[in-house]
Amino acid sequence: MIDGKKVLFSGMQATGNLTLGNYLGALKNWVTLSDEYECFYSVVDLHSITVRQDPAELRKRARNLLTLYIAAGLDPKKNCIYYQSHVSGHAELSWILNCYTYMGELNRMTQFKDKSAKHADNINAGLFTYPVLMAADILLFQADVVPVGKDQLQHLELTRDIAQRFNSIYGDVFTVPEPYIGKAGAKIMSLQDPLKKMSKSDENPNASILLMDDPDTIIRKFKRAVTDSEACICYRDEQPGIKNLLDIYCACNNKTPEEAVREFEGKGYGDFKLAVGESVVSVLKPVQDEFARLSKDKAFIDSVIKENADKAGYYATKTLRKVQKKVGFPERIR
Ligand code: TRP
Repeated sequence: MIDGKKVLFSGMQATGNLTLGNYLGALKNWVTLSDEYECFYSVVDLHSITVRQDPAELRKRARNLLTLYIAAGLDPKKNCIYYQSHVSGHAELSWILNCYTYMGELNRMTQFKDKSAKHADNINAGLFTYPVLMAADILLFQADVVPVGKDQLQHLELTRDIAQRFNSIYGDVFTVPEPYIGKAGAKIMSLQDPLKKMSKSDENPNASILLMDDPDTIIRKFKRAVTDSEACICYRDEQPGIKNLLDIYCACNNKTPEEAVREFEGKGYGDFKLAVGESVVSVLKPVQDEFARLSKDKAFIDSVIKENADKAGYYATKTLRKVQKKVGFPERIR
């Protein structure tokens, strides 16, 4: 608890371009949470180097992501938006937690198996212990809730196990976090293969809408979206392409699928796709404009980076000192 509020922690990697899926599925919903929770949103750059990065590119992307958090509506006075690498407690706690995590547990992580298949030439120890760093991120802030996608639930489960294990040895040290299951963040699928999740790493550029795509590109990609030959704008699993477009339309317009289906009754796919594209443009355009404006305001972004790193550092140190004492490190002499 901080000031009577529950604590929420989440993070995103600054690798690859963010997609409409990241926005509608995560960012857009985060904005609504800061009244209820004390929120920490980290740009998790320590995680990024588990796969090889170009340094200049990583730095640029990290800053863009941090700026984008703000452009998407996260008020940096109410939400602690910071770089993971600016708070050394992440790495320090991660080391300690490594000693409370079993090889067998990490061996079971499906993301590790996927990533090591994908980066067979660089299966480094960091890739293997990545979930421990993620546990450290969350436990460092004594987070009560963590909004994550399905693909991260296994990591969150491990975080809970580590926290409980630690608490059972040393008493109540960590808050055991819960996944945040809020108003379902829309799960957005590929526009080219609606059975696959929309991904920033998709090779087919028409499959994903990037957050920074210009209006013409967005409309063109929606016109090319894969549908079916049913000629029915219905919300059902048998028509995954249409269902995905309806989900996107609903997320952009805060409507239910029933309302959307009624709205498009009797309309053709062409009109429907255009309407979806236009909705997406009207949702992304303000974010893009704000991003462009903020990007030019170097002094403001720098001040956010500094102030929030200090704030995050304060809470991180509090937890870290407690943990260090518990495991038997000597007290500091001041
Ligand atoms: N592993 C997460 C992902 O790839 C990112 C992440 C790192 C994270 N630390 C976190 C998410 C802590 C939630 C909480 O999406």
